[in-house]
Amino acid sequence: METIIKKINIDGFSREDLKEAALFIREGKLVAFPTETVYGLGGNAYDSTASARIYAAKGRPSDNPLIVHISEFSEIGPLVKNVPDVARALSDRFWPGPLTMILEKSDRIPKETTGGLDTVAIRMPSHPIANMLIREAGVPIAAPSANASGRPSTTKAEHVIEDLSGRIDMIIDGGSSDIGLESTIVDLTVSPALILRPGYITLEMLREVIPDIEYDKAVLKRIKDDTIVAKAPGMKYRHYAPKGELTIYEGDISRVSEAIRTSAEEKLRAGHTVGILTSDELLGSYSELRSIYQEEHTGCDVCPDTGSTEPDADKKGMLYIKDIGSRENESEIAAGLFDALRYFDEVKAEYIYAESFTEGGIGQAIMNRLMKAAGYHIITV
Ligand code: TXA
Ligand code: MG
Repeated sequence: METIIKKINIDGFSREDLKEAALFIREGKLVAFPTETVYGLGGNAYDSTASARIYAAKGRPSDNPLIVHISEFSEIGPLVKNVPDVARALSDRFWPGPLTMILEKSDRIPKETTGGLDTVAIRMPSHPIANMLIREAGVPIAAPSANASGRPSTTKAEHVIEDLSGRIDMIIDGGSSDIGLESTIVDLTVSPALILRPGYITLEMLREVIPDIEYDKAVLKRIKDDTIVAKAPGMKYRHYAPKGELTIYEGDISRVSEAIRTSAEEKLRAGHTVGILTSDELLGSYSELRSIYQEEHTGCDVCPDTGSTEPDADKKGMLYIKDIGSRENESEIAAGLFDALRYFDEVKAEYIYAESFTEGGIGQAIMNRLMKAAGYHIITV
């Protein structure tokens, strides 16, 4: 299948620019589009065949329900059995934006879209391209993250092209996603309401609207424990994982960088390719390691020997360091996380060492994704 790549400028586009994409959605075709969280792989949520095609394109298990995207609150009516007051209150506060609500589904939504469940996940994205696409399509758009199943979610059109080119009808390139982590998911069908997936909208923010809301147990999980089963079916799968073995180090940050240096050096000496995921604060602590492995080294965003930004993935025993921003600025860390995980695949890192981040606020979402990517392999130093 030929995938049309359509570039659209977020700061200046018209309805006309989204006409073909909207028509594709109505015809049951698949269109990947940018949202403020991550890119979505969209299809008509009312069309069970479109949903089946989404699962096939991603290689996703079909018991993993899709999120249905709307462009204004009134569009929620046909999708659900009833609209609880709390849904309206959350919408007033956080929609459009990075929040997904689980509600009892109506008969209008096929079970293929909800992975066989009687509930439906609904989100109103704030990204202007996403919003206009839904409006123009005239139907709600079912969209999981636009990555191949198991890989990190996509925050740039290039990521989507990498994973889904040739498997879907169109990719809208609208630049990078601002937030970079998927939406916060709240289940409103249980009491008290539960957060099934942490995201940019934090527990503290949600408690201003629902004082007794809590995290689902699986969100707080810190060890590999198969007896804690996630309520969001998608959260139980191996996810976000880079191909290399990822280990997280937590504790006092000077000890963390020391432990990472020791582990990295051991693997580098043995001829392995190593990746380090770091922050502005700790980047400098790897300078000695960098200079030792300099002749052969092409990491650190710009290769010191060639000046090229293109990593040479076929050289062995290389060190690649990715600095994703300041520890003081968690939004920046969140926005760069998936791109960094993909980078380590690109350079074929065999061992990856990551710092841990604090777990308050959006840090909870960062650590949730990082921990899943590491298969809960976290070492306290
Ligand atoms: O930010 C986002 O939410 C992005 C953008 C594209 O909107 N979408 C996204 O979709 O992350 P996806 O499919 O990758 O993740 C949806 C998650 C899965 O873990 C799924 O199991 C859960 O939501 N989910 C969907 N419907 C559900 C339901 N009815 N009950 C419980 N969990 C549900
Ligand atoms: Mg996903």
